[in-house]
Amino acid sequence: MRLLFIGDITAKPGLRAVSMHLPDIRDDYDLVIANGENAAGGKGLDKKSYRLIREAGVDLVTLGNHAWDKKEVFELIEREPIIRAANYPPGTPGKGFWLLEAAGLRLLVVQVMGRVFMDALDDPFRTVDRILEETPHDAALVEVHAEATSEKYALGHYLDGRVAAVLGTHTHIPTLDAAFLPKGTAIQADVGMTGTYQSIIGGDVETFLARFLTARPQPFRSAEGKARFVATELVFDGPRVRAISPYFWEEP
Ligand SMILES: [Fe+2]
Repeated sequence: MRLLFIGDITAKPGLRAVSMHLPDIRDDYDLVIANGENAAGGKGLDKKSYRLIREAGVDLVTLGNHAWDKKEVFELIEREPIIRAANYPPGTPGKGFWLLEAAGLRLLVVQVMGRVFMDALDDPFRTVDRILEETPHDAALVEVHAEATSEKYALGHYLDGRVAAVLGTHTHIPTLDAAFLPKGTAIQADVGMTGTYQSIIGGDVETFLARFLTARPQPFRSAEGKARFVATELVFDGPRVRAISPYFWEEP
């Protein structure tokens, strides 16, 4: 079973990269998952961006700390294959995990958000324990949407041997660490961003830079520029990952 996980699709360049490139390679994969929390203009997911992502061939869309930035998400999350972090408080709209099926495998996909330098949420470690225990599955993929690589690796080691893979998102800069932990769980600290890197993590350079130079709030503007499609490819052998490798394409 081959799975492609697309890193945080950010604003127009991110959507353009997905629409231009994913249809060309979609047949190489059984499943495609994408983080779409920055798809609508850099913040949140709306109906238009969701439709573009799905039409390109994505099976499941995940969110993150920008989950609720666009109001349309509340309607989408009730009826579409979209998940938000599982460690939000009880009563939060939507689901924090999803079951996908491919090649005779029930793949449980769980997203949790970290707590280091982020909004306080419930314990991501025990949240994953509970979902793994309560949800019948053959293999599990955990997306950890977090700032700190330390927290991502702590979760990786905590889950080592119990889940197929732990993939980090949120920082928008891909890391070159894709490998296996001692008990066989595949890990990468951050898949990276699908969007333009002629930016500051997807944001317009002038206004983002002004935040640092003036220490005052600045208007949010997403950047335009050459788009990159950045993802991580997982090749499964039964319920385990046999190979993990970063995937990269750039707009001509
Ligand atoms: Fe994020």
